[in-house]
Amino acid sequence: MTPHINAQTGDFAETVLMPGDPLRAKYIAETYLENVREVTNVRNVLGFTGEYKGKPLSVMAHGMGMPSISIYAHELINFYGVKQLIRVGSCGGVDEELKLRDLIVATSASTNSAMIRDRFAGYDYAAAPDFELLKACSEAAKELDLSPRFGNILSGDLFYGSNPALLPAMQKMGVLAVEMEAAALFAIAAEFRVKALCVLTVSDHLITAEETSSEERQNSFNQMMELALETAYA
Ligand code: ADE
Repeated sequence: MTPHINAQTGDFAETVLMPGDPLRAKYIAETYLENVREVTNVRNVLGFTGEYKGKPLSVMAHGMGMPSISIYAHELINFYGVKQLIRVGSCGGVDEELKLRDLIVATSASTNSAMIRDRFAGYDYAAAPDFELLKACSEAAKELDLSPRFGNILSGDLFYGSNPALLPAMQKMGVLAVEMEAAALFAIAAEFRVKALCVLTVSDHLITAEETSSEERQNSFNQMMELALETAYA
């Protein structure tokens, strides 16, 4: 047990899919996995372990923001031996060609947070996912006939009230979308030599101000889940 996870040693599979929302974790476990059991519920941040196509797989929520995902990722890696962490979440589109419900796979994550610099002696660390997982994801996308956008995203500290200069800067530098966790996940995975990936769906758009309804989100969510599950299975 750890301060934030009450599972026993061995309760987690080597690969953990991580949505932000605990009820999403429950939905994923119940919908896509077999022989599922709940393995942790501290603060209602639920985690489950089951099987996908006969292979052990876990799913656990990471909450919102980089401090939260940092806690869960750290404990999963260092106390439960987790080797692959795949965030499945939503993001706000920045790139003008992105449409609502499009899929994005992060090939790197910029950030306006100081957290990554804290790990890197005050310098700018290039937070990026694992290449093997990226490759597996690209191959899984082809198999599933999906066309995610691959590119740089920004993991922000603020959902409300970001610096107004940030949006034009992201457009100038070709950032595809914003979310709030990937950079921290990539940095932790790098530090502890495990693999991480982040797959997202566009739930809202910062330029067009469009938003998806909950039904629309469910459809694109299913595509994102198939992509993440097949990547984990590869
Ligand atoms: N996740 C989904 N939409 C977002 C947005 N607009 N900003 C940050 N994170 C998000």
